[in-house]
Amino acid sequence: MVEEGFKTDFPSETVKEGKVKAVVPKLAAFVKQPSDYAPSKAPVFYNPVMELNRDISVLAFQAYQRVVNREIFISEPLTSSGVRGIRFAAEIHGVKKVLIGDINEKAFKLAKHNVYLNELQDRVTVQHKDANCLLSCHGAPRKRFDAVDVDPFGSPVPYLDSAIRALRNKGLLAVTATDLAPLCGVHSKACLRKYGGKPLRTEYCHELAVRLLAGCIATLAAKHDIGILVVFSHCTDHYVRVYVEIDYGAKKADESVKNLGYVLHCFNCMHRETVKKPFAKRVEKCPECGSKMDYAGPLWLERIFDKRFCELMAKENRRTPFRNSGKIAKLLFIAKGEAEAPITYYVLDKISNKLGLPMPSVDMMLQILRESSFQAFPTHFNSRGIKTDAASLTVQRLLLKLVATA
Ligand SMILES: C[S@@+](CC[C@H](N)C(=O)[O-])C[C@H]1O[C@@H](n2cnc3c(N)ncnc32)[C@H](O)[C@@H]1O
Ligand SMILES: [Zn+2]
Repeated sequence: MVEEGFKTDFPSETVKEGKVKAVVPKLAAFVKQPSDYAPSKAPVFYNPVMELNRDISVLAFQAYQRVVNREIFISEPLTSSGVRGIRFAAEIHGVKKVLIGDINEKAFKLAKHNVYLNELQDRVTVQHKDANCLLSCHGAPRKRFDAVDVDPFGSPVPYLDSAIRALRNKGLLAVTATDLAPLCGVHSKACLRKYGGKPLRTEYCHELAVRLLAGCIATLAAKHDIGILVVFSHCTDHYVRVYVEIDYGAKKADESVKNLGYVLHCFNCMHRETVKKPFAKRVEKCPECGSKMDYAGPLWLERIFDKRFCELMAKENRRTPFRNSGKIAKLLFIAKGEAEAPITYYVLDKISNKLGLPMPSVDMMLQILRESSFQAFPTHFNSRGIKTDAASLTVQRLLLKLVATA
């Protein structure tokens, strides 16, 4: 049954996404000049490009539900048109209730209408509330959620503390950060201020962005005697996304804090290494070329993908005919390999440019590294990237050998 008499006071259209339909702003009507970013110009935010992000959330929450094997209660406190939360209720098996909310009244009304449109009033509740307020109302035992999806504009940091407190033990937190300029080192001070870690403008800055966000979540969770485990993460288009399972207990928090540390980087020879303790003079000099090294952190040095969780998501993806299923299958396949790969990656084009050499294919470079008894993995962070335990100068020597013999 559709709510009678509902009409938006802005140009809108009905779209289909996953198994649901939703009334959303007609984006073309909000572009006045070519530089306009239509999703932000509309009175209610809607970005069709984020469908992939929402598809992956559906898969991750479904994988989580299969693991816990009970009915789950989900919240999406910054919902906009409601499409994400409505998809959770419509597409994930074993969802008892979904609570969504938005501070924008037009978004709240639209989300409410979209719930009606999909006849999900009995399972999806919409609140016109500030996200922190909504989450804080669910911070007490027996009121908490199994999963919370924080998908804001820019930085998710203002909502993390209340999101962590609103999760039950072993609950799943999904977080988007679109503020890649701070996280990737363009605005270093903003990153330090918001995330508590120093970024670095390296070729692997997107992985550092995920690790800075995860490190920030670990630090905030530890204050509540909660530990974390990152089960999945990805960097796609203009954002990073992490999926974190929380684990109650002071010991778990201590263990998780031990996983924080620094990535040291040499801008001369591209050497990189990780250290857990604040570094001494000894490690400030690059062991490969002797130059002074810079650093990123504190950030999360533990895994940012769980192999088993990636497999479960891939299984769900095979069952679900999304528009983006092919893309997601590829992402999950690479991420599964990355789960056990060394931290950071080399970008072949950057090395080739530095050495003034032609660019070899990623497959050939992976092969020569493996033939030389090193680990070598492609990475979803960069299609020309390689994760390896070979030292920087060894990678450069092998690349030289490869192009010389080609
Ligand atoms: C990026 S949009 C959400 C997109 C949505 N998650 C999706 O997948 O389509 C961010 C939303 O957060 C809402 N918002 C901003 N500040 C808020 C706050 N303090 N509390 C609740 N909602 C807020 C905005 O009105 C906007 O609708
Ligand atoms: Zn060096």
